[in-house]
Amino acid sequence: MDYLCDKSERMQITYYGHSCVEVKTGGKKLLFDPFITQNPLAKSVDVSSLNPDFILLSHGHGDHVQDAIQIGQSSGASFISCFEMVSWVEGKGLKGHPMNIGGKWNFDFGTVKLVQAVHSSKLPDGQYGGPEAGFVIWNEEDCFYFAGDTALTMDMQLIPMICPPLQVALLPVGDNFTMGYEDAVVAADFIQCDTVVGIHYDTFGYIKIDKEAARQAFESVGKELILLEIGQTITI
Ligand code: NI
Ligand code: MN
Repeated sequence: MDYLCDKSERMQITYYGHSCVEVKTGGKKLLFDPFITQNPLAKSVDVSSLNPDFILLSHGHGDHVQDAIQIGQSSGASFISCFEMVSWVEGKGLKGHPMNIGGKWNFDFGTVKLVQAVHSSKLPDGQYGGPEAGFVIWNEEDCFYFAGDTALTMDMQLIPMICPPLQVALLPVGDNFTMGYEDAVVAADFIQCDTVVGIHYDTFGYIKIDKEAARQAFESVGKELILLEIGQTITI
């Protein structure tokens, strides 16, 4: 039934700086980790123009949730995150679907599975954010992994054992607070994915990277690291 495949229906990833991406898949817009208004590199992004159907939060740090409540209110999006994070947004009058690591749920756009991430999670108001999570999301067309903030972890090897083959993975590459690009090369091997979109780099002094060296590190093992311009959209 190939003739039914409309190219515009292929998975689209738009980068909004730091770890904030919007992925269009299964007919819905999924916004991850919105941190825009406080990101000096993302000044060109008009937050009020974002209209996601779902907002997915990997953990509670400000550089992942700063604009979540505002965008949740303006868009009416439903949140997907760990139980503790969803309790936090519900406390602000927003709606969400609580999950926890290892669990999966079939949404109307596809299946979401929460996977292990090694990091910490405290919300800006001091509330405990529950465990940090990564997301593997798939439907009949697409399968991708959004790792959130995480170290390289052996548990990443479980992903190809329990999820469909990944077309693309969004991995942190900025080092200091998460794995750096050298470890992300190993992560890409663990998850058996050849196409990686880098996140969590350049925003602050601690995570500035040599982009050419990072691309080379992936290229040397036959993989591709895509570092998007802020506002850029790619189709996978
Ligand atoms: Ni963090
Ligand atoms: Mn972070």
